[in-house]
Amino acid sequence: MSDEKLIRMDMGTIDSETHSMRPTLCLGIESSCDETSAAIVDSDKNILAHIIYSQIPEHQKYGGVVPELAARAHILAIEDVVKQTLTKASKTIDDIDVVAATAGPGLIGGVLVGWMAATGIAQATEKPLVAVNHLEGHALVPRLCATMADGTNGNVQVDFPYLLMLASGGHCQILLVRGVGQYEMIGQTLDDSAGEAYDKVAKMLGLGYPGGPIVDKRAQTGNPKVFAFPRPLCDKPGCDFSFSGIKTAARTFLDRAAQPLTDEYINDFCASFQASVVDCIINRLNNALRDSRVRDCMPRTLVVAGGVAKNSAIRSAMEKFAQKNKMLFAAPPMSLCTDNGAMIAWAGLENYKIGKIISEPVAPRPRWPLTEL
Ligand code: KG4
Ligand code: ZN
Repeated sequence: MSDEKLIRMDMGTIDSETHSMRPTLCLGIESSCDETSAAIVDSDKNILAHIIYSQIPEHQKYGGVVPELAARAHILAIEDVVKQTLTKASKTIDDIDVVAATAGPGLIGGVLVGWMAATGIAQATEKPLVAVNHLEGHALVPRLCATMADGTNGNVQVDFPYLLMLASGGHCQILLVRGVGQYEMIGQTLDDSAGEAYDKVAKMLGLGYPGGPIVDKRAQTGNPKVFAFPRPLCDKPGCDFSFSGIKTAARTFLDRAAQPLTDEYINDFCASFQASVVDCIINRLNNALRDSRVRDCMPRTLVVAGGVAKNSAIRSAMEKFAQKNKMLFAAPPMSLCTDNGAMIAWAGLENYKIGKIISEPVAPRPRWPLTEL
């Protein structure tokens, strides 16, 4: 892009050749964990193309993500994923206005692959480049596309400020989202993330990786009252989480169980474990709502995001909690909960709109809290 050719106007772009306004196009790249993904999203909230290459089959036999294998798989996939995305959108790289990629936090080998690809594309084509925080991708994607409590889908407007439950494989945080780049941490996990707890419990039960979706499905036919899992920190003030006690309880129950485990046992176990996670989330959100009022903020919308946001029980408990507190409830569609390029493209557009583009080379960061943007 050259300044003479394209002039950025809010979230649209004026083409100086045709003098007509058109939506700004962003190419977003994600590679921080085990998905190599790219998407082209425009400022009118259209996802023109979205390719997700999941490495899950490559990691399944190890019961979790192997960082070195992930980095190598990203290297092998990245070029094709970007090319396929452009082809699917019927665009060339010249049609793109802004390039965005995850620059952290995440597995550094993988982050480097996507970030260097984006840097190369942006430099070679003289396009602006946005360094996206992966967590910000999860945090902002409900503004691109959300499913609301009344079942409406698509271009609903999720306005700032909102109260965000961000639960993924690597993170578990409650944040007050006041605007793009404005995140206040209200609570976070003191040990494992919620996704990690799901994955570890699934592994103990021999259910495979990733554990979240499998435990979620098993829980649907189980009895949540059979196993008395603890509700860590729920008798304490504050909004922090702790899942290590739930994990220890799981180990203790299993040590006493008769082998082989029956399907009924596993389903009841999953349902009881999940009920404890749900109770912890609602207990902490209740305190977080009070906390945000103390911070002089009345968020109108409660949002859940991150891979764990796919969980049916968590979504419905949060929806009920929102209704009780006269709040709107929003969650990304299932396909945009786990890691994906569209959330990175959207966060790229939101940052581009406020002028947050890279002016000099930056190094990707394995750790990068949302509060340090
Ligand atoms: O956001 P994400 O794709 O990756 C990270 O940024 O960490 O989240 C992946 C996590 C995994 O731990 C996976 O088990 C969990 O999300 N997950 C679920 C469900 N689907 C995925 N957890 C609970 N219930 C689900 N249905
Ligand atoms: Zn993620």
